[in-house]
Amino acid sequence: MEELNLMKQAVQALMRDIPKVLRAPHRPAWHLAPSVGLLNDPNGFIQHNGAFHLFYQWNPLGCDHRNKCWGHWQSTDLVNWQHQPVALVPGACYDSHGCYSGSAVVADGKIMLAYTGNVKYPDGSRTAYQCLAQENAQGGYDKLGPVLPLPPGYSGHVRDPKVWRHQDDWYMVLGARDLQDRGKVLLLRSADLRNWQLLGEIAGSQLNGIGDFGYMWECPDLFTLDGVEILICCPQGLAAQAEQYLNVYQAGYFTGKLDYRQARFEHGAFHELDLGFEFYAPQTTQAEDGRRLLVGWMGVPEQDEDYHPTLQYGWIHILTCPRELSLHQGKFYQQPARELQQLRGENRQWQGIADEAPCWPVGSAELLLTPEGAFSADFGGAMTLLWDGALLRLTRNNLRNGQPEHRYWRGNLSQLQILFDRSSVEIFINHGEAVMSARYFPGPQPQLHLSGKTQLTLEHWSLTPCM
Ligand code: FRU
Repeated sequence: MEELNLMKQAVQALMRDIPKVLRAPHRPAWHLAPSVGLLNDPNGFIQHNGAFHLFYQWNPLGCDHRNKCWGHWQSTDLVNWQHQPVALVPGACYDSHGCYSGSAVVADGKIMLAYTGNVKYPDGSRTAYQCLAQENAQGGYDKLGPVLPLPPGYSGHVRDPKVWRHQDDWYMVLGARDLQDRGKVLLLRSADLRNWQLLGEIAGSQLNGIGDFGYMWECPDLFTLDGVEILICCPQGLAAQAEQYLNVYQAGYFTGKLDYRQARFEHGAFHELDLGFEFYAPQTTQAEDGRRLLVGWMGVPEQDEDYHPTLQYGWIHILTCPRELSLHQGKFYQQPARELQQLRGENRQWQGIADEAPCWPVGSAELLLTPEGAFSADFGGAMTLLWDGALLRLTRNNLRNGQPEHRYWRGNLSQLQILFDRSSVEIFINHGEAVMSARYFPGPQPQLHLSGKTQLTLEHWSLTPCM
């Protein structure tokens, strides 16, 4: 479909579905969600001249994975976001089947977008071009065309450019599937963002001693935190284990050291970034104050997408809240961005035995929970959290068949910080040592019910809607 036609249809879809979306019971009060249609990966996350820009994969025409445009939000405080003109719409010969994921950098004072132009052929094959677009005076983006075709030796699945500046050059990581169906991360260098040289594979299945580790790696991101290089990526094709890799696809990280000259990345083991039911394709940026911020998609490709109750209201999926990343004694931490504290309204505190705790509303709320021993918590009858002293277990009834499904974390639990937003929950364990994010679909005005014989301390805020 050509660009103008797609935009005309998008306007029709907005006019048709916005009244439904506004009535939708599970619409978030403070998380980013698509106006209509389907949202997936966060893209182009950047702060420039004080303003945060957050783009996202968006199908404005329906709730399936087609017609991928880049929607665009802007904010000065990571809490209040304004819609900007749609940044990228597919339709050129090099992006006819989607303006796929990518990133943003500032060059010569302007925001530049690096994205993947996805092209599918009638015989079912596909190719991919890495493309550029540049901010214009109207707040929109002008496509500059492809800067890199498929490198030899790879399938049509090479995508999701994440670009950054290091010393005097630009660098890019790309996710790839090679011709032997091994997932890889490629490193490239450019002096001018237009001419790119492939330096090599820095990580992937059967590289650096990690054995068979998936057929495709999507959405890589590479950055330095406290002098340590972190590579985030989303391997597809990992087999589920007893308590890990339980989603259809994973999002995780390696820590290590990147040798830019040799294009070698010495790294340790893969760790999942989030142990909940929904988390994928995260992207980070460095804020102007130096903090490393991350936003993820609170969804997973091909996981339960046909069963979300929001579909009947014409929309699907949300983004996670922005998180601040840090390293403490070599350990990776994620915490809700401090700006989110602006949402805190009425505050209540309580201490006592879990069985006697009050039932507080958790529609749009934040909870700090410090338990002394085993307890369980029920969130509006739709999700439960159980701590037995060694294992934290999050349970939700499967959206497809109603069977209970579990996600797990093991460790020494000292504190939980839980952010609720109507149909999502984000559980930060021990000040961000681990996180569990999930969508759930409780009835109206869900309440927290605690049980157990243990002592616990609770602090609760209602969170003020801002969407
Ligand atoms: C990840 C992903 C990316 C791709 C985009 C398309 O969810 O598959 O690899 O660029 O979504 O929407």
